Amino acid sequence: MERTLAIIKPDAVERGVTGKILAKIEGDGLKIVAIKMLHMSKGEAEGFYMVHAKRPFFESLTIYMSSLPVIVAVLEGEKAIKKWRDLMGATNPKDASAGTIRKEFAIDIERNSVHGSDSPESASYEIPYFFSNIEIFF
Ligand code: CMP
Repeated sequence: MERTLAIIKPDAVERGVTGKILAKIEGDGLKIVAIKMLHMSKGEAEGFYMVHAKRPFFESLTIYMSSLPVIVAVLEGEKAIKKWRDLMGATNPKDASAGTIRKEFAIDIERNSVHGSDSPESASYEIPYFFSNIEIFF
């Protein structure tokens, strides 16, 4: 069993497609073991995306991610990290395959509707960034 962090980003929450995205997650056999809505400050978004601090899109990304509330969730399942990334689709919706969340909902490479941990190392930074142990259903 593996755990990964999922974020439903401001563009998707704002357009009211949270329920549709959560249904796809559960429909794919991933178990939601923690979930909440929160509005990150700019500094909190910077801390979350620290690994991208030197990238040219960092400033715009962290302004966007702190612009409106997001849904953060912990997903659990066998190979949950890959499973969730496959369901999300490519970072750029132009490259995303049919049937993926980004193909269906993303607006552009920044407003790409969802985030998922890209490795076990990322998941072990990202999950405790938002959730303490007592908030995760065992
Ligand atoms: P995410 O999977 O959350 O990881 C980093 C985010 O940066 C990415 O999704 C996009 O929202 C955003 N982003 C904006 N421009 C780029 C880019 N050129 N390459 C990768 N990510 C980008």
